[in-house]
Amino acid sequence: MSTRPRSLSGIKPSGQPHWGNYFGAIEPALKMTSEFEAFYFIADYHALTTVRDAELMREDSYLVAATWLACGLDPTETVLWRQSDVPEVCELSWLLSCVTGFGLIERAHAVKDARANQREINFGIVSYPVLMAADILLYDSDVVPVGRDQLQHIEMARDMVSHFNQQFVGGNCLDEEGNWNGVGLKRPEGRVRDSTAIVPGVDGGKMSKSYDNVIPIFGSKKAIKKRVMSIVTDSTPLEEPKDPETCNVFQLYKLFSTAEEQAELAERYRAGGFGYGHAKLELLEKSSAYFAQKQERFDALMADRDTLEDILRDGARRAREVAQGVLARAREATGLPSRPHR
Ligand code: ADP
Ligand code: TRP
Repeated sequence: MSTRPRSLSGIKPSGQPHWGNYFGAIEPALKMTSEFEAFYFIADYHALTTVRDAELMREDSYLVAATWLACGLDPTETVLWRQSDVPEVCELSWLLSCVTGFGLIERAHAVKDARANQREINFGIVSYPVLMAADILLYDSDVVPVGRDQLQHIEMARDMVSHFNQQFVGGNCLDEEGNWNGVGLKRPEGRVRDSTAIVPGVDGGKMSKSYDNVIPIFGSKKAIKKRVMSIVTDSTPLEEPKDPETCNVFQLYKLFSTAEEQAELAERYRAGGFGYGHAKLELLEKSSAYFAQKQERFDALMADRDTLEDILRDGARRAREVAQGVLARAREATGLPSRPHR
């Protein structure tokens, strides 16, 4: 077992991963794998709070797995699994729900979002933060890299650790130096990925599956070109000078290019005689070159479900080994037998 601290994160299989996910979540998470023992999973139980199409659930789970792998996740170094392959998480979720006040849950984003968007509030949405805490605590995670919107859930997980440890172990489970003493549950740290600014979508707002403004990481050349060409720009005529800093196309171009390339393109904007259509083609060329090798790996993986299943099975086995040990410790603390009779 590794002596590196453990980082853990999950992505829901609820649609095609896009440039915002790549630069905001996937790339930074992959960079962390040298410093941390990384545990990354496909949050299918969480997706079940909204997804109602079994075929889509299966397909999107493969899509997320293939995206991680194509983008460079090494499955021998990193544990990659499907959340539902380790059902112990549901049991820990139950133990945590017994120490979680309803007032805390009512304040959660998951519930507030559903209310604001007038979506049905099923009980899965209510217990979403408890299951997410179980995801994290089941693996004695040290850090949890997430987007800012998820920070509240990490705070809630930290509260659940305090309540669990106080109520079942009778203390805060810390030694004199403030380090966890190996009893009860381990308190994680949230880590907001602030290194990348919000990636704008084709309409200039935050790129998000919920706003139908995404450019997918992977897809046919034609489909991606269509999205890139639909990026909203102002109506400055072709011959006039343009300001790159206020242009969405240029903001996206920056993600894929060096400082010199950016300066060069900015110069062409300012010189005039250069249209937004030209800029979009430059962006398309850069982005497809950037993702070309990854796209090839992605296509090969999506065409080989057996390999994907083998990787997910091996990940589930390794994740489960850790999970069973932590769950036994948690059951023991509550007075349940540390391992159930089978
Ligand atoms: P979506 O908003 O498309 O549903 P998710 O919430 O599934 O995306 O995103 C998973 C992670 O990807 C988020 O926690 C966040 O870190 C990152 N992310 C999503 N959209 C963006 C964006 N436009 N810019 C930067 N990061 C993003
Ligand atoms: N709720 C997260 C999201 O919507 C996904 C997620 C589920 C997660 N369980 C997690 C993230 C545990 C980090 C840790 O993006």
